[in-house]
Amino acid sequence: TKGGRASAPAKVILFGEHFVVYGNPAILASINRRITVDARTIDKEDKIVIRSDIGLAGEYSSSGFKAIEGGTEARSALDPLHSAITQVLVARGKRTGIKVAISSDVPPGIGLGSSAAACVATVAAVNSLFQKKPSRHKICEMAIESERLIHKNSSGADCYISTFGGLIHYSSKAKGFKEIRSKGGLALVVASTGVRHSTGDLVAGVMRFKERNESLFQNLAKQAADICTQAQSAMVSGRRDKLGTLMNENQAILRQIGVSHYKVDDLIDICGKAGALGAKITGAGGGGAVIALAATKQDSARIAARARAAGYESFEVEIDRKGLI
Ligand code: MEV
Repeated sequence: TKGGRASAPAKVILFGEHFVVYGNPAILASINRRITVDARTIDKEDKIVIRSDIGLAGEYSSSGFKAIEGGTEARSALDPLHSAITQVLVARGKRTGIKVAISSDVPPGIGLGSSAAACVATVAAVNSLFQKKPSRHKICEMAIESERLIHKNSSGADCYISTFGGLIHYSSKAKGFKEIRSKGGLALVVASTGVRHSTGDLVAGVMRFKERNESLFQNLAKQAADICTQAQSAMVSGRRDKLGTLMNENQAILRQIGVSHYKVDDLIDICGKAGALGAKITGAGGGGAVIALAATKQDSARIAARARAAGYESFEVEIDRKGLI
């Protein structure tokens, strides 16, 4: 048997989630929390075994899927990874069994992109079992394809940031991204409502909102795009206060399209009172996680501590520059 390993970072969306699905821009950063995937070949040709340290495990064979751990939840979490593995095998023209072990320090289902990171790292780890490394672009495209099994309208943003890392401006319309050179660091805090969500369901909900409120939606999308443009220049010129204000404005728009949650409001209030310059949902919302911007490292430590004291999981995050490794 042969073995290979790859690791991909989780992410935060600083601006533009949901609207990015419709071709609008978004600003994302990868963070210092990772998913690591170990892959190896096994003798049983038709067998794919996937095991994750968050208590999900299953086995795919010619007779179908069997959950080993985690029951029905295992199936929906593992199907995209199974698709990632078979895509690589088909692309490489290989017939072999594969065993994959996933380890994660990313809280799942709260908008930090753990499923995209798992897809990216799985594609890369399985590829590394064979000769010739595909480009990062190719890996990213395969990961997006497999992510679409659970979230069919994915903008691809999560897989892009997880593959390439850093702080980027992404547009799904252009399928392109640009590195943003921010002046000074960004002191960021993630706080989780503890309410898990399905990205696919939330994106579908926003689509229904759009269908019923077409002109309002277009108007909000335009405002969100404007906020992205302004945020990018605030980052480049190091105007943190402005950036915080823009996060609050972005949050007001997300509230209007129905993806906020009363616990999000509670967390935003806690972060604000602890000195955050701005705070908003990060990712799909509907609960999930909040991202807050602080003026200094000292402030971000205090914000995270206050959120924890109120009973929410919270931690400071650094921007990861490496992406997929
Ligand atoms: C999820 O992390 C981000 C969304 O914009 C969905 C997507 O971009 O595919 C809500």
